[in-house]
Amino acid sequence: MKITIIGTGYVGLTSGTCFAEVGHEVTCVDNNPDKVATLLAGQVPIYEPGLEELVKQNVAAGRLKFTTSTEEGVKNGEVIFIAVPTPPQPDGSVDLSFIEKVAREIAQCLTPELGYRVIVDKSTVPVKTGDKVEQTVRRYAPPGVEFGVVSNPEFLREGCAVDDLLHPDRVVIGSNDDRALAYMQKIYEPFVAPVLVTDINSAELIKHAANSFLALKISYINAVANICEASGADVEKVAEGIGMDKRIGRSFLNAGLGYGGSCFPKDIKAFIHISETLGQPFGLLKEVEKINADQLDRFLNKIREKLWVFREKKIALWGLAFKQNTDDVRESVAIRLAQKMLAEGATIRATDPEAIETAKKFGELKGDITYHTDLYETLDDADCLIIATEWPAFAKVDLTEITKRLRTPLVFDGRNLLDPKDAKAANLEYISIGR
Ligand code: UDX
Repeated sequence: MKITIIGTGYVGLTSGTCFAEVGHEVTCVDNNPDKVATLLAGQVPIYEPGLEELVKQNVAAGRLKFTTSTEEGVKNGEVIFIAVPTPPQPDGSVDLSFIEKVAREIAQCLTPELGYRVIVDKSTVPVKTGDKVEQTVRRYAPPGVEFGVVSNPEFLREGCAVDDLLHPDRVVIGSNDDRALAYMQKIYEPFVAPVLVTDINSAELIKHAANSFLALKISYINAVANICEASGADVEKVAEGIGMDKRIGRSFLNAGLGYGGSCFPKDIKAFIHISETLGQPFGLLKEVEKINADQLDRFLNKIREKLWVFREKKIALWGLAFKQNTDDVRESVAIRLAQKMLAEGATIRATDPEAIETAKKFGELKGDITYHTDLYETLDDADCLIIATEWPAFAKVDLTEITKRLRTPLVFDGRNLLDPKDAKAANLEYISIGR
């Protein structure tokens, strides 16, 4: 199939590359000429395991092209995916101006001679956005143009995006038009994944409902962790015990500092806003957000309890990314934690396997902070170690080295990466979440 993707952000670039990998002819459009030049040179502007090799291979095979021209994209692609940002607005609603602009641009490039086109929304959008896209394209396209609109939400996780795209749990296709549906089914034929066909509104809603449910699982286990702490139980065992029930499942029951990233916080806010707009306020999700925010404050209080004051304290901070296997620091709880400690006068020596440069560029960490590639180096003379991101490498460290290097052997583990027994054996005072 001939496919065009508009927007080469996380979702657009990885989806376009994976469509090419399974044999489709893909044109990726981005309005940023520098980005297009970088991609044409075979470089990928984000850290995503396996992606750069796939981009290079598919560009070399002639199946993957990059351009700044929407007109070229609309000409090349029978199916045109919109994968542009849908950022949050201060009231929690979604800013759909990029989607609207792209819908208009596509419409203006359509001609009756090009033939039928399918316009697919891949960005995460509020329910009923498909209707608006359809109306907009209809309004701006010349008479006689034939097209169908589809919603095809993306469920990839950063850090394992390529695998998630090539082997998805499910593909959701929302379409009210059989002709468009047939094109979409052909696109997904090479993927061995169950396809769920729905109407457009349901597909749009599935994405927000799925992310909200996952966030709910995280807040649930964090609330349980707090009860474990108060009662002397171990949240790791509790998560294992409830997760063994197939109806519940063990994943997304890792207690910690709470969820962050560019999706969950934004999507939960958006879903709350949508529910209110539709007159069906989703109070449960407000509680999910509150538990998530409180989790960081509780952790900070635990640190304060031991250190008493942050001023003149040197802190080793392991983790800046919002989660493991990514260099992304957007809405990172680790960054927020660092900000709060810096504001109270702490000195921070931070490390992260991938996110040091993005954290520097992000520019939100102001104050007495230095960055180190060697994680042991951060410990020298520090008053404590804080683990804030769940990088597996942090779990494999030499604990005796931590004890040796810290000024006082105090560890706060915000992701339950270390084993309390091992920490005790290494003479560490060890404080984690819910155990
Ligand atoms: C998420 C969804 O998983 C994905 O389906 C959707 O397309 C985009 O949003 P992502 O933001 O990449 O993906 O990360 P994810 O792995 O879901 O983690 C989100 C946050 O939750 C991270 O901050 C992570 O640290 C936290 N988390 C995750 C927990 O605190 N506990 C868990 O058990 C799982």
